[in-house]
Amino acid sequence: MEKINAVITGIGGYVPEDILTNEELSKIVDTNEEWILTRVGIKERHVLGKGLGTSYMGTRAVRQLLEKTKTDPMDIEVILCATTTPDYPFPTTASIIAHNTGMKNACTFDVQGACAGFLYALETGANYIRSGRYKKVVVVSGDKMTSITNYEDRSTCPLFGDACGAVLLEPTTEEIGLLDTFLRTDGIGFPNLHMAAGGSANPASHETVENRQHFVYQEGRVVFKYAVSYMADAAATIMGRNNLTKDDVAWFIPHQANWRIIDAVARRLDVPMEKVIVNIERYGNTSAGTIPICLWEWEKNLKKGDNLILAAFGAGFTWGALYLKWGYDGEKA
Ligand code: UT7
Repeated sequence: MEKINAVITGIGGYVPEDILTNEELSKIVDTNEEWILTRVGIKERHVLGKGLGTSYMGTRAVRQLLEKTKTDPMDIEVILCATTTPDYPFPTTASIIAHNTGMKNACTFDVQGACAGFLYALETGANYIRSGRYKKVVVVSGDKMTSITNYEDRSTCPLFGDACGAVLLEPTTEEIGLLDTFLRTDGIGFPNLHMAAGGSANPASHETVENRQHFVYQEGRVVFKYAVSYMADAAATIMGRNNLTKDDVAWFIPHQANWRIIDAVARRLDVPMEKVIVNIERYGNTSAGTIPICLWEWEKNLKKGDNLILAAFGAGFTWGALYLKWGYDGEKA
């Protein structure tokens, strides 16, 4: 029997219209444009309005994906939503998106891989396709990070924004698509990056709200060091075991948490910045949204057969890298 690969056959995306600039932020907390630009590389981030959840963005990304790929929602068999900011603790955000987009024949579930969520969901979705039993899988991935951002904490509030991307995975017997994946979790990062309340260990109470425990807590310097070494090691592992040199790589797509992290990882891999997809200056860190939004924006530049290396790192710590051979030329209209 021929080997079945899972290939991305289309991509949709959604970024909210409202923009929060560095100048506006500097009126809320003690910060400034110069610090944010030089230490992180962000000029502005997009913010989803109050009362709207991640499913609002996911629904729009999926609708665009279905239109671009001319896919009947009734043909989708699996929909995975990678997010750390679900609309509600339950039901899943995937189930809300499926309902909004008319996917009535799909099994749905959420994947929580923090900022590495897209890679985790993509590998999971690809395994459905590789099994031979499923033909159309949607992976929708993104976060409303501004819903868990503490606008009284200047060390985290400039970092985050909101966005969602969605891809369609289909089977192929060509040597394209998701060709290799390296995913890891070590669990040591809990003290350095977490949200302290709102789960079963520490449910919401007056006290947790008063103590502002429903927001991202991050020890930036520690996280920075792990992000660089883990992402670089994961990408180097994937490149090494697939005999890919920097010349074979068409594009390197890292998680967008900090321009300096991206630069340091690219240097370690010896991949020139012209081959590195970066859009952090316009969106900030949208967690599970960063990599799909990069793919969405760069779709027109991608060609069939391009070797793409994706790398991500997030809370847990949870991280990984993925080797993707792109499946089609240019933008699907
Ligand atoms: O997405 C998943 C994982 N997350 C990451 O990968 C993020 C990793 N961490 C980072 O990107 C960086 O550590 C941050 C951007 C969060 C912080 O940058 P940093 O260069 O590590 O800054 P720092 O925390 O070491 O702070 C340096 C200085 C401090 O002042 P002193 O103590 O040197 O006087 C801070 O108080 O910068 C100060 N500072 C600020 N100044 C102006 C911290 N935040 C701000 C701010 N504006 N917003």
